[in-house]
Amino acid sequence: MSILVPYLHFIGIMTLMGSLIAEHLLLKPNIGRQQIRTLVSVDLIYGISAIVVLTTGLLRWFVYGKGSDYYLSNPFFHTKLTLFVIMGILSIFPTIQFLKWKKQVNAGFEMIIDEKTVQKQLMFVRVELLLVAIIPLLAVMVARGV
Ligand code: HEM
Repeated sequence: MSILVPYLHFIGIMTLMGSLIAEHLLLKPNIGRQQIRTLVSVDLIYGISAIVVLTTGLLRWFVYGKGSDYYLSNPFFHTKLTLFVIMGILSIFPTIQFLKWKKQVNAGFEMIIDEKTVQKQLMFVRVELLLVAIIPLLAVMVARGV
């Protein structure tokens, strides 16, 4: 388990980043029904990978790591957790939008997705990508006891 948990932490992180990049590539004005369905599936993968990252992170924190006190006393660990929580909050907005689009698609509505709405969702995804790029730096600093 002490090997499996860190391994799954990395797999979760890689999948999370991959799904964010996929969302970024899929988000375009006037996307079609099929792409909307794909976006919803990719967003589900994103959600599952975030749960994997969180669960394995908690296991590393409390069970397989250097002891919970070690992490609690490190300010970079607090920053890492804060950024992760911000990522989680930001991800709610695209998820709500994708589900709304899916509902409209399923109801058979003609989809006209304007540039402004797409740009707004892209902004959330870009900030999340930035955060997920910063978090590993903090994680390495925590692990090295900086
Ligand atoms: C997107 C979110 C996250 C990313 C990108 C990330 C990244 C990483 C990386 C790269 C490491 C390995 C560091 C190293 O060995 O050099 C690591 C370790 C760790 N992570 Fe995360 N992590 C994330 C979320 C979390 C969360 C939410 C928690 C806690 C709830 C957490 C807890 C830990 C712990 C305890 C370690 C072990 C540090 C050590 O070796 O002492 N991580 N993380």
